[in-house]
Amino acid sequence: MDDTITTKISAYKPYLGDRYETFLYAFRQFAANSGKVIVELGTSRSFVSGGIEGCFSSKSKYWQPDKIATWDWGSGVFTKVCLECLKHLKFEFHSVDISRTAIKISKTITSGYKNKTRYHLTSSEDFLKKFNKKIDLLYMDAADNNEEGAQIHLREANILLERDLLADKGVILIDDINLNPDQLAMGLIPKGKYSIPFLMDHGYKRTTNSYQVILEKNKD
Ligand SMILES: C[S@@+](CC[C@H](N)C(=O)[O-])C[C@H]1O[C@@H](n2cnc3c(N)ncnc32)[C@H](O)[C@@H]1O
Repeated sequence: MDDTITTKISAYKPYLGDRYETFLYAFRQFAANSGKVIVELGTSRSFVSGGIEGCFSSKSKYWQPDKIATWDWGSGVFTKVCLECLKHLKFEFHSVDISRTAIKISKTITSGYKNKTRYHLTSSEDFLKKFNKKIDLLYMDAADNNEEGAQIHLREANILLERDLLADKGVILIDDINLNPDQLAMGLIPKGKYSIPFLMDHGYKRTTNSYQVILEKNKD
């Protein structure tokens, strides 16, 4: 067990809420499998949470690295949290986004990790069609919680299987699946609505099922 990860993530635990257990599990599995390649589809696109002044603004005055409570916890800040929790390991982190502004914001957030981080300004599907490495940890978080987002995830899942991109012990983490009553009342649709059953029909096992879902290959 990698205790460094547990120690690192504890700083974010009060803010991660329902994402805490699944982030921790995914990071631990990645370390236990001696993973090397992380891919995040959909990067951290805001310095602050929705509805707060500075939301989606790329003005760096809104980024307060030392005030963790001000970060965009509504979205989970995976880009930063993942890099921080795994920084003692050797790996490459690929973050993909279709929005130039989102990438600019995320680059500011992760400015301390330039040696580990590569940004890709492209759609998640085009990225997956061209990427040529096996992925040890895949975070499927592109697009929003609506029908279009669910269709994008299904197409991503298709490419993932067609190109056999996940490493044998690879982990897929999918955000926003078991939505809370407020989200459901707003008419939101989980991004993984179609991709999760599709991947499970093709042999992937659901190993955690809370707010986020984790799927793994070759699990008994
Ligand atoms: C929910 S945010 C990602 C949040 C981020 N993973 C985090 O933990 O903070 C979704 C992102 O997906 C991007 N996006 C939307 N459609 C996309 C697509 N087809 N391909 C790649 N990125 C896309 C948006 O620009 C946005 O930045």
